Amino acid sequence: MMYFLQGDIMNVAVLISGRGSNLNAILEAERNNKISKAQIKLVISNNSKAEGLKFAKEYDKKIICLESNNFKSKEAYDKELAQIIKSFNIDLIVLAGFMRILSPSFIKHFENKIINVHPSLLPAFPGLNAQKQALECGVKITGCTVHFVNEKVDEGPIILQKTVDVKEDDTEFSLSNKILEKEHEILPLAIKLISENRVNIHKNKVRTV
Ligand code: GRF
Repeated sequence: MMYFLQGDIMNVAVLISGRGSNLNAILEAERNNKISKAQIKLVISNNSKAEGLKFAKEYDKKIICLESNNFKSKEAYDKELAQIIKSFNIDLIVLAGFMRILSPSFIKHFENKIINVHPSLLPAFPGLNAQKQALECGVKITGCTVHFVNEKVDEGPIILQKTVDVKEDDTEFSLSNKILEKEHEILPLAIKLISENRVNIHKNKVRTV
């Protein structure tokens, strides 16, 4: 699978629901010319009160809030989302703490064009509270993953992972912060690699060139 961009520059939409620290990391990387083949065209939030929207404003990005209570069904929501994304000629959809599960038809429509960041070394600890799951399990190493999104939650070809050590005195808070620092490295990096056409999917596995 190679990317067929609609222009020389890859148009990116970042979807958030809350704090937006990953969005901030992406915007910083863009400003510092670390992802020069991509531009963040659009920030979408399902929550108009999302704290992270302040970063989108700071960087003067187009913001669209799509609150679910304005829609009759999940399908109607995802249809509108898809239409917005198409109208901005988006090449890559980045889920950066977007707390909605996208419908299979949406995912199919944007096959291999959606990436997600998750705070564990997938396939370990999918779902919510991944850091807590890691602590409860007693693993000595955990980390974060950037992966393409498929129909199953927190699955799909893995693009990048980074590890962190779990110390005996780690709390959910301290561990989450350590993992977050790594997320802020690998999410912009994954966008960069994809925008430079260096990410291929072969038999459900990512090969980076
Ligand atoms: C991150 O831990 C990410 O891995 C998960 O949601 C959190 C979002 O944090 N999917 P932020 O909103 O980017 O600060």
